[in-house]
Amino acid sequence: MLTQEQNDTLCHIGPGTPMGNVMRRYWVPALLSWELAEPDCPPVTIKLLGEELVAFRQTDGHVGVVGARCAHRRAHLFWGRNEENGIRCVYHGWKFDCEGACVDMPSEPEESNFKDKVRILAYPTYEVGGVIWAYMGPPEKKPPAPLFDWAMMPAPNRAMSKVWQQCNWLQAFEGGVDSVHVNFLHGGRPPGQRYDESDARGRANNRSTAIQSEVMPTDYGFVYAAIRDLGDEGDHVRVYHWVMPWTQIRNLGDSPTISGHMWVPMDDENTMVYNWSTVPPGERAERAVRSGMGGRAMAEVDTDGNRPLWFRDAQMKVGAGNEFAVDVDAFNNFRSINNMDNQYSIDRAVQKTQTYTGIPGTNTQDRAVQESMGAIADRTLERLGTTDRQIINARRAFLKAIKTVEDGGDPPGVSDSYYRLRPTTGLVPKGGSWYEVLKAGLFRPEEEDELLVKTAT
Ligand code: FES
Ligand SMILES: [Fe+2]
Repeated sequence: MLTQEQNDTLCHIGPGTPMGNVMRRYWVPALLSWELAEPDCPPVTIKLLGEELVAFRQTDGHVGVVGARCAHRRAHLFWGRNEENGIRCVYHGWKFDCEGACVDMPSEPEESNFKDKVRILAYPTYEVGGVIWAYMGPPEKKPPAPLFDWAMMPAPNRAMSKVWQQCNWLQAFEGGVDSVHVNFLHGGRPPGQRYDESDARGRANNRSTAIQSEVMPTDYGFVYAAIRDLGDEGDHVRVYHWVMPWTQIRNLGDSPTISGHMWVPMDDENTMVYNWSTVPPGERAERAVRSGMGGRAMAEVDTDGNRPLWFRDAQMKVGAGNEFAVDVDAFNNFRSINNMDNQYSIDRAVQKTQTYTGIPGTNTQDRAVQESMGAIADRTLERLGTTDRQIINARRAFLKAIKTVEDGGDPPGVSDSYYRLRPTTGLVPKGGSWYEVLKAGLFRPEEEDELLVKTAT
């Protein structure tokens, strides 16, 4: 439970808000690289941390993220002409470069120097891992580039999708670090049905659906363990990472696939959820990787930076029961196809006989429950249990980070200490320390470094 004031503090992320100031200390995922597929392509409108922005890839390939409105009389730059290393407003022709400088003002007399005094808002960008990131904070506090382990994978080894979620970022994020919901919302069976005994998690669920969760604070956020009792076999332990403020790094089942999410606030009541999956270098790129939204074989990713083939293909196959279906409409600003207007396509017969929810798709199940909490969940009314430990710890960490930033310090996760993080899963003997047993798997081994993408920082 939070007080109303605490809830407001954590949920409001616009310019000048305490949480907004914390978030502006990190590189913010702004859009997918393929949304700006080539130089001088059409610009894209984005909303980040409550700010309306326009992104464009200029002639030399560099991406600009600028304030959405022209400095002259506020026309939207989405209509703009993206040409010769700048975006030109179509109302009276004023042109701005990636840094926000007005570089041409053809509506004023040639001898005028007025353009030298005019700027629009512009944020630095960085492109890696198929994502264009923006830095929206104080220039002198810009952190090192966001070189997450997954972002450094060669393109054929990674997949990325994103979807618009219609609720505040915090309840979406809290759903991600809430380990126990998986036993119900996603993997649950109708009462009386047993779980698959060939799978460790299934065997554990047949003993008890209540897991034990433990959290270990780190300088980037925390590492957390979901512990399932397997009796004489020991404990089945999944160890994941949370990197401040919105990144989760986790395993996908017991496969070598590593995946996770980034819950990026568009504004106080809307979130863009990025879903990534990777297979480590050395694994065959053809190995099928699912993004949690039904992503397809990595080999089908178009490495030229265009829209991934599996995604384009899946768009045409949207429909219940299609394992490759993607519940997002990339042609409608990444809105979810199954959404609150169609009750997320819930099938009550399936809910009675096959799955816990009757709602198709893992991420759709998340959206259904998280959006149902209201645009901003009222945390003054909640009742937290023992498995909400990660959520309680994360809230404390956010409140502490707010204080740190207000006092002029650096919040967790702005150094490069998260670069090598990987999730891991294993069996831990009864009474053993999961951290000691599994810690070797929590970081990328050095021998893999040479297989990664080379990026200038
Ligand atoms: S409003 Fe953009 S040039 Fe006039
Ligand atoms: Fe979930």
